[in-house]
Amino acid sequence: MILQRMAARPYRPTSRRTPPKILFLLLLIIVPICLLGVFTYGQKISYFLRPLWDKPPASFQHIPHYYAENVSMEHLCRLHGWSILPQPRQVYDAVIFSNELDTLEIRWRELYPYVTKFVILESNTTFTGIPKPLFFASNRARYAFAEGKIAHDTFPGRVANRGSHEDPFKLESEQRVAMNGLLRRSGISYGDLLIMSDADEIPSPHTLKLLKWCDGIPPVMHLELRHYMYSFEFPVDYSSWRATAHIYGPKTLYRHSRQTNLLLSDAGWHCSFCFRSIREFIFKMTAYSHADRVRRKDYMSYPRIQKIICQGDDLFDMLPEEYTFKELIKKLGSITRSASAVHLPAYVIANAEKFKFLLPGGCVRSQD
Ligand SMILES: *[C@@H]1O[C@H](CO)[C@@H](O)[C@H](O)[C@H]1NC(C)=O
Ligand SMILES: *[C@@H]1O[C@H](CO)[C@@H](O)[C@H](O)[C@H]1NC(C)=O
Repeated sequence: MILQRMAARPYRPTSRRTPPKILFLLLLIIVPICLLGVFTYGQKISYFLRPLWDKPPASFQHIPHYYAENVSMEHLCRLHGWSILPQPRQVYDAVIFSNELDTLEIRWRELYPYVTKFVILESNTTFTGIPKPLFFASNRARYAFAEGKIAHDTFPGRVANRGSHEDPFKLESEQRVAMNGLLRRSGISYGDLLIMSDADEIPSPHTLKLLKWCDGIPPVMHLELRHYMYSFEFPVDYSSWRATAHIYGPKTLYRHSRQTNLLLSDAGWHCSFCFRSIREFIFKMTAYSHADRVRRKDYMSYPRIQKIICQGDDLFDMLPEEYTFKELIKKLGSITRSASAVHLPAYVIANAEKFKFLLPGGCVRSQD
């Protein structure tokens, strides 16, 4: 019926059509708005569409992890399908240090009883080629409790020429090569346990004890760490996997990337941007390998950063890196605040006043 009526209607060439002038004007307005939108939010749009263009990393094979207080080492080894060694392994804990002074203290206090040598490399430039103070060297007194176990060296970084950019990932990989040399000089031998991680990726003490005492553990495994942002008040998820435990051998190389499919479940804490002062946040934001994320000057404003820390929002105003729309939508918005301070590093709880900024209700930071 309708079709017939339309067909019967006489054809009138111009009266009903939108005049081309208005169409042209509309285009003139809409096109720049769209361009501006893509320009401003391009990164967001592409992150939002990540499930369409990116594949998740190959999945891990989770090693079940057993632990409870006061269960014998022998029993724990057996639960993992391993046996107990007559003598524990020597343990080397190797980190490349930037400016995580508090996190480093917590790490070393926590792991001190189990570690043979704390191997630490720090550069006098950032990964982005900006000269940087030797934060560890100038605060060394703070780590006097570990002095006998420290193997420290400085990496001579290169300063980026004006206009040219040092490739952050290249400088980072050179530091990892330098770390191999420092490890050998620090006295590591084949068969020792070696932890490779960033300073803020802290294996739990019972995990180190397990790997130190059990025979038959895999020669390389990733450590699954609980990921926190800004403090233990903001647990994100269990997505942190880059830290590894190795039985040191002739082929071991210091790396911070995917090395095996094995992942030991729930093996510690990864506390990102867990800084005491806003000044340290700003330093890390500029020094970061992903410094390209700092897109605008006002990103560095103190009130903006403080507000983000207390809300559990993203410092770089970015969408989460997720590979399915379901996960992405689940993670949109602020991180949910947690009131739990259970199963955290013992040194933080024992010194709760000093580390207030890492505990529930402590989000307000000093300026410097
Ligand atoms: C742990 O074991 C010891 C010795 O068997 C015992 O004295 C202590 O009460 C136990 N502690 C807990 C928390 O079960
Ligand atoms: C870093 O250290 C090296 C070796 O000590 C030195 O030659 C270089 O000038 C230093 N760079 C900066 C930016 O301080």
